[in-house]
Amino acid sequence: MASKFQAPRGTFDVLPEQGRSRARVQHAAGRIFARAGYEPIATPAFEDTDLFVRGVGRSTDIVRKEMFTFEDKGGRSLTLRPEGTAPICRSYLEHGMHKLAQPVKLSYVGPFFRHERPQAGRYRQFHQLGMECIGTESPLADAEAIMLLHDLLAELGVPGVELRLGSLGSFAARQSYLEELKAHLHAHEGDLSRDVRERIDVNPLRAFDADDEGTRGVMAEAPTIVAALEGEDAEHFAEVRSLLDAAGVSYEVDPTLVRGLDYYTRTIFSFVCDSLGAQSEVGGGGRYDGLIEQLGGPATPAVGWAAGIERILLALGEEEAVAGRDAFVAVADPGQRQRAMVLVTELRNAGLSAEVDLGGRGLKGQFKHADRIGARRVVILEADGTAQLRDMESGEQRPVETANLIEEMTGGEK
Ligand code: HAM
Repeated sequence: MASKFQAPRGTFDVLPEQGRSRARVQHAAGRIFARAGYEPIATPAFEDTDLFVRGVGRSTDIVRKEMFTFEDKGGRSLTLRPEGTAPICRSYLEHGMHKLAQPVKLSYVGPFFRHERPQAGRYRQFHQLGMECIGTESPLADAEAIMLLHDLLAELGVPGVELRLGSLGSFAARQSYLEELKAHLHAHEGDLSRDVRERIDVNPLRAFDADDEGTRGVMAEAPTIVAALEGEDAEHFAEVRSLLDAAGVSYEVDPTLVRGLDYYTRTIFSFVCDSLGAQSEVGGGGRYDGLIEQLGGPATPAVGWAAGIERILLALGEEEAVAGRDAFVAVADPGQRQRAMVLVTELRNAGLSAEVDLGGRGLKGQFKHADRIGARRVVILEADGTAQLRDMESGEQRPVETANLIEEMTGGEK
C-alpha cells in the first residue's frame, strides 16, 4: 500500500538495482585513488555556515540562494555542505596537515546538498566523489588530477566525454583583467540580462555562463582571461597543457570557461558529456591557491575536482545487470537446513557468492528463487545426507560429495 509520504523534492531513494551501479562507480574510483596514493577522508555533512560563505564566496549562486542553512539549538548557524573542498581545507588546517610531508593527497565520496530547481541530473541531495591535492603549486599536480578523472571516466566507459580546459591566472593577475571585463560589460549594459547586469561589479566572470541571447552576444566580443595570461601564470598553463599532451589526454582550451565557485585560481577544467543535456558536466574542478589562506591558514596552493555520481550514471545510461550467484544451496528436506547454513558459509569463505533459502520454501519454490537471483548452480541437500549439483544453464544434475564441492566449483578457475 502506498504511503502518503514521498522522498522530499529533489531527492531520491537508491534502490538495489541502482545501488549496484553506484557500487561499481565507487569501486572504480576507489581503485584509481588508491593506486595514485589519494587517501580517503570524510568530513561532516554540515559545517559552520561561514565556512562556505568565506570559502565558496558570497557572490556565488551557491551561497546566495542554494544553501540549506539552519540554526541549531545553541543558536549556531550551520549549513548542509554544498561542496567538499572548503570542508577538507578546514580539516587540513584543524588537524595540522600542513606539518605533514606535502602535498597531502586526499579522496572522498558522499552526499552534498544544494537547494536548486530539480531537473534531470540536478538534485537537492546528490553525491560527489572527488580528490584534493593540497600543498603544491606544481603543474604536475594539475595534470595528475585531470588524468585521474579522465582515467575514471574512461574505465567506466562513459561515452562522449570532452575535456574543457581554461586558466583564470593568479588572484593578483586577475584583478586587472576583471577591470577590463567590467568595463566591457558596463559599455553594453543594455544588452545584458538583469541577473548579469546586477552582478557586473561583484561577479563579472559569471556573464560567460549566461544563456540568454543578449548576454551571449556581448560575451562573444568580451576580452578573455586566457588571452590575458602573462609570466608565471602563462608558463604554468602551458606546462599543464604540455603534460596532458604528453599523456595523450585530449582537451579543448575554452577561454570562456568559468566555474560556479569563487576560490579558483589558474587551472580550471570541466568534463562534459553531451548526452546529458542542460546539466552536461559530469565532473570538474581546478586549482585554488588562495582558499586555505582565505580560511585563516598559511598560503597553501592546491588543486582538485569532484564528479557527480548521478551524472556519471545518467551518462552511462544503463542499469547494472543482475550480478548473479555462483551457487544456491537448496534443501530437499527441512532437516537439512542447518547443514545448508554451514555449507553456504564455507562457500562464501572460499570467495564464492552463495545464498540459502531464508523463506521456508518447498524445493520447487527454492528452485524458482534460485533462478530469480541468477544462481548458476544449485546444490541440493537430500534427506539421507547425500547431495546433488545441478547446473542451472544446462539442467544437468549429478551426485556430488559436499566435502569436494568448493574444489569442484573453483577447480581450474583460480
Ligand atoms: P562543482 O562543479 O560545483 O564543483 O560540482 C562538481 C560536480 O558535482 C559537477 O560537475 C556535477 O557533476 C555535480 N553536481 C553539482 N551540483 C549538482 C546537483 N545539484 N545535482 C547533481 N549533481 C551535481 C565542486 O563542488 C568543487 N568542490 C569541485 C572541486 C574540488 N574543485 C576543487 N576541488
